[in-house]
Amino acid sequence: MDIAKLEFVPIAGHLGAEVRNIRLDRPLGADAVAAVQQGLSRFKVLFFPEQWLSHEQQTALAQQFGTLAKSHPWISVVAGHPAVHPLVTGRSTIVGLQAAHRARWRRPAALSGWHADLTAVVNPPKFNILRADSVTSRGGDTIWADMVAAYENLSDPLRRLVDGLTALHRYGVGYVPYGGVQDEYSERVRSVALASCHPVVRVVPETDKRALFVNPSFTSHIEEVSPAESAHLLALLFEHATRTEFTVRYRWRPGDLALWDNRTTIHAAPEDHEHLGEERVMYRVFVAGDRAIGPLGQVSRTVCGEDYPRA
Ligand SMILES: [Fe+2]
Repeated sequence: MDIAKLEFVPIAGHLGAEVRNIRLDRPLGADAVAAVQQGLSRFKVLFFPEQWLSHEQQTALAQQFGTLAKSHPWISVVAGHPAVHPLVTGRSTIVGLQAAHRARWRRPAALSGWHADLTAVVNPPKFNILRADSVTSRGGDTIWADMVAAYENLSDPLRRLVDGLTALHRYGVGYVPYGGVQDEYSERVRSVALASCHPVVRVVPETDKRALFVNPSFTSHIEEVSPAESAHLLALLFEHATRTEFTVRYRWRPGDLALWDNRTTIHAAPEDHEHLGEERVMYRVFVAGDRAIGPLGQVSRTVCGEDYPRA
C-alpha cells in the first residue's frame, strides 16, 4: 500500500481518528504497521470503516501488532479461532445473558459501564481490535475516554498525589447487582478468582506519557489510603476522566473495525439497544499486554490468579 496516502482524520478533540486509504485484509508491511502504530499513539482509538474482515484476517491483523492474548478468561471463543471472542447480544449466549442481566439489574450508577478490558489480570491486553459484523438499527455505539488527557488535565497537586498510588482491580466491582440478585451471570462473575494491583497512573513506554489507569468496573480500592478516602478519590477520578470533552463516540456500521489502546483509554457501551430485540454481533481480538509501570517505578503485581495467557 501507498503510505503517503494514509490519512488520519481526527473525529474528536482529544482522541479518535478515522483512518483512510488503507486495506486491512492483507499484510500491511512494516512501514504501514509503524505508521498505524504512530497514529495509535497519537489518537489512541483508530476507526477503519467498512473493512469486512474474516476471523482469519482479524487474527492476522492483530499479529502484526504483537503477540495475541487469550480472548477472555471465561467466555468461549469462536470455534476454530482461539483468539476471536464473539460479543453477541440479542441471543442467549453468555454475553446475551450479561446484557439481559444488566438491563434488569444494573446498578443505578452512571459510571458502571466504563472499563478498560480485563484489568483484573496483572498484564491486561495492550491493544483491542473490535469489528462489527451486524449492528442494531439504532443504538449500540461505543464511547471511549482519553486517560492521558484526563491525567494531564488534573491539577499539579492531584497529579503528584495519584502518581504515588496503587489500586486493587478485581472482577465484580462494577457488576454487583443491587438487591442481592443471584442469577447465572452474577454467579459467573463472582466465581472469577482474578485480582491484581496496578499503579493508579501508568507510564506508556512508546510516548513516555502518563495515563490514569483506574476504571469503575474493575478498580476496587486504592491501597495507600483509607476506604473512605479511596471511595471519594476514585469517584473524583472517574467523574473527571469521563467528562464529555475527553471522549469520542462511534456509531458502528457493518464491516467497521476499531483498534484501540487499552492502556490509555477506557470505554463503555451505552445499554440502549437490548430492548429492541435485534441481534448485534461483534468480534474482538486482543494483543497481549505487559504489567503496568507507574511514575515511581511501581509495577503491577498479581494478587490472585496468574499472568494472562497468550492465545
Ligand atoms: Fe470492553
